[in-house]
Amino acid sequence: MNQKVTVVGAGNVGATAAQRIVEKELADVVLIDIIEGVPQGKSLDLSQAAPIEKHDAHLTGTNAYEDTTNSDIVIITAGIPRKPGMSRDDLLSTNRGIIKNVTKQVVKYSPNAILIIVSNPLDAMCHVAMEESGFPKHRVIGMAGVLDSARFRAFISMELNVSVENIHALVLGGHGDTMVPLPRFSTVAGVPITELLSPERIEAMATRTRNGGAEIVSLLKTGSAYYAPASAAVEMAESILKDKKKILPCTAYLEGEYGISGLFVGVPVKLGKNGIEQIISLKLTADEKKALDKSAAAVQELVDAMKKMA
Ligand code: NAI
Ligand code: 2OP
Repeated sequence: MNQKVTVVGAGNVGATAAQRIVEKELADVVLIDIIEGVPQGKSLDLSQAAPIEKHDAHLTGTNAYEDTTNSDIVIITAGIPRKPGMSRDDLLSTNRGIIKNVTKQVVKYSPNAILIIVSNPLDAMCHVAMEESGFPKHRVIGMAGVLDSARFRAFISMELNVSVENIHALVLGGHGDTMVPLPRFSTVAGVPITELLSPERIEAMATRTRNGGAEIVSLLKTGSAYYAPASAAVEMAESILKDKKKILPCTAYLEGEYGISGLFVGVPVKLGKNGIEQIISLKLTADEKKALDKSAAAVQELVDAMKKMA
């Protein structure tokens, strides 16, 4: 029997993630949205692409959570995206309500699923999903670091005119303006970029990475990035579905790692069939640790703001 992935939210990120999952034949996909017709229409369209794309994965479009029963993974992209001038945090109140509602429905039908959260503000929404689901921490994972690191990798590739395949990069922290690109752990064919580029060029790329989402919002004007975000969520899902045990930067609930407790923050983790199978602790310099603490404090602010909401 094929594995089953539910994608909640049939908008830009959700539909693109569904497309990538079936085209890679990773799993059958259930695409669900609150809007009637949209998940059904997109699923049908994607099913009709299957003979040309040559895959046999099945797609179901629905508005009923019964159809999501016994999903192995649920990718939650439901919510509203950023408009120009809006920060991710402006989305807090609206998306909190949506994630609460969605999580409740999801866990009712898939009590053993692994949740991959995409909706913004990402780190805060992971808290909502964990609280609402009651799932253990290894089954609630946020997507941010894979995307932010991919942006950093893309900029390094453009700068050095080197294949993206030669580049590894690491971005930790919250998915916001305080995220922490780590040049020391970012390499080209194994060589740290600190040995290849000037501090000024590295800082320029780190800044562009931190503003990566906003740069695309200001260009698109009617929404936010979705091709790279969908790819990032699907890379995480693939590592889980195939038990690949990839080390990827993901948003994980920390209980003392990196000196942070009771908070979702982006760190390197090992992803396998059980979800987060290990949190990788890196030895950070004092400056790197300070930047991570600042980023964690920004996440804490949002969590505290949510506590004051009804
Ligand atoms: P979109 O507007 O294209 O799609 C969102 C979909 O969610 C819509 O189809 C909407 O009908 C649906 N939806 C709203 N309420 C729902 C509910 N209660 N139940 C089911 N579906 C519901 O937005 P897009 O571009 O797909 O982005 C989705 C979310 O992902 C946004 O919050 C965005 O900020 C976030 N995002 C996060 C990224 C990250 O790195 N973590 C990267 C890109 C987007
Ligand atoms: C991004 O980074 C909007 O969070 C989204 O593109």
